[in-house]
Formats: sequence, C-alpha cells, structure tokens
Amino acid sequence: MRKNIVAGNWKMNKTLQEGVALATELKELLAGAKPNCEVVIGTPFIHLSAVSQLVTDSVINVSAQNCADKESGAYTGEVSAAMVKSTGANFVILGHSERREYYLETSEILNAKVALALANGLTPIYCCGEPLSVREKDAQEDFVKKQLDETIFNLSADNFSKLVIAYEPIWAIGTGVTASTEQAQEMLAFIRSLIAEKFGKEVAENTSILYGGSCNAKNAPELFAQPDIDGGLIGGASLKSVDFKAIIDAF
Ligand code: PGA
Repeated sequence: MRKNIVAGNWKMNKTLQEGVALATELKELLAGAKPNCEVVIGTPFIHLSAVSQLVTDSVINVSAQNCADKESGAYTGEVSAAMVKSTGANFVILGHSERREYYLETSEILNAKVALALANGLTPIYCCGEPLSVREKDAQEDFVKKQLDETIFNLSADNFSKLVIAYEPIWAIGTGVTASTEQAQEMLAFIRSLIAEKFGKEVAENTSILYGGSCNAKNAPELFAQPDIDGGLIGGASLKSVDFKAIIDAF
C-alpha cells in the first residue's frame, strides 16, 4: 500500500533560528493524534542537523532540497548525499523546477543525484512538471513522460520503488494558481499508467505520487480525495506551522 505524504519545501526561507522555531511549533501541533499521512519538512542544508535532532521523537521526517551529483571531494560549496544522511535527514527533493531552471540541472545531473541519494539511503522526492507554454499547447503529457524517461525510468524496479514522485506544473508554483483538481488527477493517473507500463502494476500501485503548486489548506481536501493524488509538496503554505498542519489534517 502506498503512503500518503505531506511534504514541506521551505526553499530559501528562514534563518536557522527561525527554522528551528517553525519546526518546534509544528512538532508541538503534531504531538496529539497521529496524522493520517507521513509528514516531511524540506529545510535548507544548514537547518538539517538541528531540525533532525529536534524532531527525532516526533512523526516529522526531514528532507534536504538538493544534494551534489558527486560523491565527495573538491567541489567547493556542494553538499553530498552522504552528508545529508549524516544529519539524520532521510529524504531529498530532487529535480525541482527551480533547480532545473536556475541551476541548469539536466537529466544527466539528476541521474547522478538520484543514484547517490539512493546509495546513501535517502528517499528522493523526484519532481517533474511542465511550463505554461507546454500546457498551452496541451503537450504536458509528452513533456512529463520525457522527463521521466530520461531519468528515474532508467532505474531498476527495486530502486524505483524506493522513491516518491511529485508533479508540479511550473505555472502553478508560487503563483497562487492551482492546477484544477481534474488537471492534477489526470496527470497523476497518467504518470501512474506510465509506471505500470514500465515497472508493472504492483510497483505503480505502490508509488506515492504528490501534487505540488499552490496547494493550501483550502484546496488540499479536494485534491487529496482524488484516487491518484497521494499528498502534496507544499512551498509557501509550509512556512506557517498552522497552515501546514491544516494541510496535513486534510487526510
Ligand atoms: P508553492 O511551491 O506551494 O509555493 O507553489 C511548491 C513547490 O515549489 O514545491
């Protein structure tokens, strides 16, 4: 059975002290009844260690937002998958459209990152999604299929079954424009059908696929009620503990 997951992506927000305060608030809010989904917070690298220690005795999992495409060595400014793992984090967001667009992450680079994440026991939350120009031409399915074919569809079924996928249409990220429930469900069902073709029905049924892009407490209940939407990757609304908790409570 696949898991429902609500994952926060803090992006480049919060100082260390602010991040620790946010994680503390969330931990307190989640101290009561166990949520009906797995909870992950994706913090900047420098927060990982402190936040991981803070949440060890809670339901919260910690994720990095990136890792290096190299194992170790003379790569100034980079942070390896092994380093991420050593902080206590166990997830890593890879292939986010902001990384692809602003830091020119190609499929080749992403393949190296996914391999290193898996080799170091991290669960990749692998992002895909089309820009507005592609959606306007109704070519989003071919675009997303290519993103998957060039990267995680090259994994063995065993490795593939260890990752989580997040579909984030670029036109919906941080814009306040959410994909309609139908658009999100349609794409996630399409992705699941591609997984079934490639790895078989059982792997497809067991893969958690998240929707991301202006997901909030208001639209989450309807989105999460769809048969193929197994949760959300949440940017802006993960920066306030009460808002993020409300999205978790949508399950
Ligand atoms: P958003 O970001 O919720 O602020 O749209 C989502 C994401 O980029 O992961």
